[in-house]
Amino acid sequence: MPETKATDQKANEYGYRSFLLGKFRFERDEYFAHLAWPDGSHTIQVDAFLRALMRDISWNFFYGIVNFDGVFGTTNHYGNVDVFAGLYNAGYTNQNKQYVENFNSEQVRDLFAAMLDDWTNEGFDPFAAPAETGSPFGSKHGSNRAAITRKRLVAERMVGLAGDIAKRSDAAGNPVNRQFVDVNQDEPEVHAEPGFENEVHAFNFFAYVSRSDVTWNPSVCSAVKESQVCATTEEFMLPIIHGNDRVEWFVQLTDEIHWDIQDRDTGVPRARVIMKPGDVAAMPADIRHQGYSPKRSMLLVWENNDSTLPELYAKKRLKPNPVDF
Ligand code: PHB
Ligand code: FE
Repeated sequence: MPETKATDQKANEYGYRSFLLGKFRFERDEYFAHLAWPDGSHTIQVDAFLRALMRDISWNFFYGIVNFDGVFGTTNHYGNVDVFAGLYNAGYTNQNKQYVENFNSEQVRDLFAAMLDDWTNEGFDPFAAPAETGSPFGSKHGSNRAAITRKRLVAERMVGLAGDIAKRSDAAGNPVNRQFVDVNQDEPEVHAEPGFENEVHAFNFFAYVSRSDVTWNPSVCSAVKESQVCATTEEFMLPIIHGNDRVEWFVQLTDEIHWDIQDRDTGVPRARVIMKPGDVAAMPADIRHQGYSPKRSMLLVWENNDSTLPELYAKKRLKPNPVDF
């Protein structure tokens, strides 16, 4: 098994430890994460790096590819994970300069979590909108464990059912976000026939989402077999460029998100999609995308969790777009 460890228990001159994952080396200074591998190196501004790292860890490498930027990222094989540099960048692959190592998922998650913990300063929350968090920059000062160990919310059946994810409220410590003070907070009345109390359920989805304190972090609000309805509040930009291994449906519930869509494997631009309230998009299985939300907005992401899908798309047994117009 390739080696992973914190290289120097002793911190560098800025107070940060360095980390080794196989032949990848990670260092940080006041402004940047510096990455190196046997035949290359790369620099990412540290706020962007920590925001991407946070999501890669808490989504357990997500569906398919998590590009931190156009060079570095991870490909999820659900149990093991490729860590790559330049693998989905035509500039690198045309020169055969890409570099990839495969690890078991737990090994990468543990090292990434240790790095995030060491590199996150007091007051910086990688899940928060830039307007709602302190700065990640400078030499090491304190930590922010409460922010970086949040659990991803995954409903078994639906938010608000007995024994499932609870609805949000002021009393539970989930105030309405500053951008959503106009969102109606009334809950629906449910009158189930006797004997069906556990089968009929409803909750105010907009009210629930208006109380999210994180951005670009879909939480599963309802699950029916492999169909997962995920809600998320977005502000500023998606901190990763997501390479799909299945189709994803987006429903824009409020405000606006601008999406850059590129070819998944090369990064060649393919489309710009400006989504306004009520717009629905089916993101194909062979693209990557990054979204920009000028104001805090609500997005519904509909995921198909069926684990046989990546292979069906890879073998072209399913076509990448679910609808032809
Ligand atoms: C996506 O890559 O599809 C994605 C990720 C996080 C979000 C929204 C969409 O908050
Ligand atoms: Fe996506």
